[in-house]
Amino acid sequence: MSYDVDAVRARYPALADGWAYLDGAAGTQVPTAVIEAESAAYAAGIGNHGGYFAASARSDAHSRAAREAVVDLVGAPSVDGVALGPSMTALTYRFADGLSRTWRAGDEVVVTRLDHDANVRPWVQAAARAGATVRWAVPTLPEVELPVEAVTEHLTDRTRLVAVTAASNVIGTRPDVRAIADAAHAVGALVYVDGVHATPHAPVDVAALGADLYATSAYKWSGPHLAAVVGDPGLLETVRPDKLASSSDAVPDRFEYGTSPFAQHAGLAAAVDHLAGLAEVAAGLAGQSAGANAGRRPRLLASMAAVEAYEGALLRRLVDGLAAMDHVERLGSPARQAPTVWFRVRGTSPDDVAQHCAKAEVNVWSGHNYAWELAGLLGIRDSGSAVRASLSCYSSAEDVDRLLVAVAGLG
Ligand SMILES: Cc1ncc(COP(=O)(O)O)c(C=O)c1O
Repeated sequence: MSYDVDAVRARYPALADGWAYLDGAAGTQVPTAVIEAESAAYAAGIGNHGGYFAASARSDAHSRAAREAVVDLVGAPSVDGVALGPSMTALTYRFADGLSRTWRAGDEVVVTRLDHDANVRPWVQAAARAGATVRWAVPTLPEVELPVEAVTEHLTDRTRLVAVTAASNVIGTRPDVRAIADAAHAVGALVYVDGVHATPHAPVDVAALGADLYATSAYKWSGPHLAAVVGDPGLLETVRPDKLASSSDAVPDRFEYGTSPFAQHAGLAAAVDHLAGLAEVAAGLAGQSAGANAGRRPRLLASMAAVEAYEGALLRRLVDGLAAMDHVERLGSPARQAPTVWFRVRGTSPDDVAQHCAKAEVNVWSGHNYAWELAGLLGIRDSGSAVRASLSCYSSAEDVDRLLVAVAGLG
């Protein structure tokens, strides 16, 4: 299927500055539809939620629309199982707090050295408070794969939780989450999946993944700086984080601290609508296709499949281009991956590479990118870690080539 990236890019006003935004793993730009939805929410008037007046009802409608949008995006079981929050990190701390209250000395949790620290440290710290033991699943080197056995060898009848990523935010590695989840469930453990880096790049179905809880951040998929954790409402009922005596104990409200950013909830729903339309936009059929009348979930599945295929081809261009340079060392070579590469340039520090790229108007990140354990495992944490280039649904071949030319210039 053809993918007209120029038509996609035209939806993102920030791209008009001409820079190559290869920093999507740290946050994407937002389309006009999101900007307009947030602006319209403010212009129409919003109030705090749960009141008797229209502005309050509008806020409640924005929150409901945001939860419905997340349900469609990841195939969540129900709107009552969607907890919204300021970031995946904040939400994961809340769930670690709540879930660990039933952990006892001798219980075990499994975390990985592949994961972003936001799916490691909250569990490690909660385990320490509960007296539970932490078991570490270690990726293979130099491929940086996370074979199923690397996780399942740590499972015992005392395992309470397995925390694993659906895609590494630096190497891109996509472990076989389903197989890991099946094994974890067989010993009675819960599975908390970090879907922050996976969600923007492929269709997601939390049930098919076997995730009991799945975390995703909207600002990685063209939305505002918000996140969600989804799970079965019945499971959420059993999780009791700290909360105010005066705030709702209903699920999922009990996980949503303080007053919500209602206008951003409108933006989140608009971002999911935008993603649902991407396949039609990329095919030059926006607004005309019969697809536009289909349900949002099937349109999202079609769009994310189109994004996955497009980004996969662009990733090959990037990987091949870097591989052709003797002075570049790419870290990891996973068989199945999100479109993100981590690399080092011989003789130039990662920070210097990123600064050099910025002079060429290319956005890339340098440093550990919160892949704290992995940077340690690879032995690069004390030397600036690496440079990360990540592709998004709006990345173009010209973006990739500009990066390759800039990096070639360091040889
Ligand atoms: C894979 C992954 N997990 C978790 C996080 C943390 O997300 P948030 O910034 O929403 O806390 C990030 C952010 O970069 C990420 O890439």
